Amino acid sequence: MVKSSTHYVCQSCGSYFPKWAGKCEGCDSWNSLVEEATVDSFQKKTTLKAQKIEFSSLEDISPPLPRLLTGIEEFDRVCGGGLVPGSVLLVGGDPGIGKSTLMLQVAAVISGKAPCAYISGEEAADQVRLRAKRLQVSTSPVHLATTTHIGDILKSLHQGPRVAVIDSIQTMYVESLDAAPGSVSQVRASAHELIRFAKKYGVTIIIVGHVTKEGLIAGPRVLEHMVDTVLYFEGERGHHFRILRSVKNRFGPTDEIGVFEMTDKGLQEVSNPSALFLPHRTEEVTGSCVFAGVEGTRPLLVEIQSLIAPSSLGTPRRAVVGWDSGRLSMILAVLEARCDLTCGNRDVFLNVAGGLRISEPAADLAVSASLLSSLANAPLPKDAVFFGEIGLSGEIRPVSQQEARLKEAFKLGFKTAFIPKPSKSFSMPEMALIPLAHIAELANYLEAKPMPRKAYGG
Ligand code: TYD
Ligand code: MG
Repeated sequence: MVKSSTHYVCQSCGSYFPKWAGKCEGCDSWNSLVEEATVDSFQKKTTLKAQKIEFSSLEDISPPLPRLLTGIEEFDRVCGGGLVPGSVLLVGGDPGIGKSTLMLQVAAVISGKAPCAYISGEEAADQVRLRAKRLQVSTSPVHLATTTHIGDILKSLHQGPRVAVIDSIQTMYVESLDAAPGSVSQVRASAHELIRFAKKYGVTIIIVGHVTKEGLIAGPRVLEHMVDTVLYFEGERGHHFRILRSVKNRFGPTDEIGVFEMTDKGLQEVSNPSALFLPHRTEEVTGSCVFAGVEGTRPLLVEIQSLIAPSSLGTPRRAVVGWDSGRLSMILAVLEARCDLTCGNRDVFLNVAGGLRISEPAADLAVSASLLSSLANAPLPKDAVFFGEIGLSGEIRPVSQQEARLKEAFKLGFKTAFIPKPSKSFSMPEMALIPLAHIAELANYLEAKPMPRKAYGG
């Protein structure tokens, strides 16, 4: 009998089985069996070709190859200053968010400088050409191919492209595995082959991956640890802004963002995003507050809005768009415990304008100011920005890059800033700085009075 060269390994307990099953008999976990090559077949292959490895010192590296700048500034910055030869990038995002559009645009500009291949496993060549026509890049010398076979791709890449886009990894397969394209094992094996090739021949490979909700198709997460750089392309449905965010980068800073706008001619760069996330405000509105944030290395002003309204429900709603709902609950609890302000039986809605997602704790003070303004029914000063982290005792803590935040605010015409009380002397003569040590000081400033608890049943 021919011994099978693959078996199924449970990803949580490590037991292995000759056949696939929905449930692991070793640890009872579901859907954890993944096809892998057996140790026997693996060793046979590896020991046959095994040879002595060469050790070298940390010092004697050959001078690094220059990075390849695409010319799309937002993209280059997120990559940490252009594409590193021989590196592998993963661009993940929801289906339909614009990954193929961005990659075709990137491939088009690169191909003007270096040979670049765009390999689509999802669309027919004519569909890609149609898209290229819409993006007005039809004349750029991109090498277009449509295939899903990794072996074919690697053989063809020998011929010279310095950059290759693989769209998408979920459609690719290697012949040695029986599993269907899109399964964890195929996605991993395909990516592994691509990565090995990239390192060996110094070709930059950009892998596109769909984020999937169900477990049926493997998402880009299973590849994050293998690649050099992980970029996620995000955006709210209904908004035309798209944000490219670096979550891992072996060659540059993470948390850097690039902002794009989806238009009928593809993605346009937005080089001054603060202006975009700050709608033109003519009158003062309660609950609206400007947060002076930092995304990666770049300061970014964003409007945060809140609305507090009497609730008709037994359990009042807490709805958040663009921020962490756990963090909102914490801020509400701090306001209640430290300032005696309660939202009781009232619905609280919080929204980050423009479809941006903020993850910085520095937004705490701006969120509190917005909530206090809603509670007190008093607008905040129109020319003021806010930033600061809030602790559970209500203290306001300093945050990073204060100067960059203030400079950006000043540049956009803001005159006042509510900031954490600095530990060492700190001045910015152009702006009126209002240092705060405790959240109660902000409540006093805004004259937010404790809510009459009876009136709202709190
Ligand atoms: P696409 O790049 O195909 O998404 P993905 O590869 O992430 O699945 O983007 C598809 C969406 O983008 C589609 O809904 C239409 C829109 N779009 C535009 O608005 N303008 C354009 O010029 C192009 C090419 C696409
Ligand atoms: Mg696509």
